[in-house]
Amino acid sequence: MTETITVCPVSELPPGSVKLVEWEDLEIGVFNCAGTVYAIEDRCSHDNGPLVEGELDQEKCTIECARHGSLFDLKTGAPLTLPAYVPVDTFPVTIDDGTIKLEVD
Ligand code: FES
Repeated sequence: MTETITVCPVSELPPGSVKLVEWEDLEIGVFNCAGTVYAIEDRCSHDNGPLVEGELDQEKCTIECARHGSLFDLKTGAPLTLPAYVPVDTFPVTIDDGTIKLEVD
């Protein structure tokens, strides 16, 4: 069943910033890439590296895994460089009355 979780007001996540959200046994990284908010599972598909600790590229909307350097597309969760080759989960984001919300299931 899909559930909507409230993250924070948009004003608390300015462009270039990231927030870690925990929901049940999931950890989700919420990124503001040049004004668009994306959410992906905070667990690299290569070796479980924490993606929120990586480097955000706001031009390409990618995050670089802090552990071994795979680049992931924040829009799709797809890995763009090795060693990761499996996508990570993404979560739909909505902005509702100035508040960031995620859909999880
Ligand atoms: S854990 Fe992310 S690239 Fe290895």
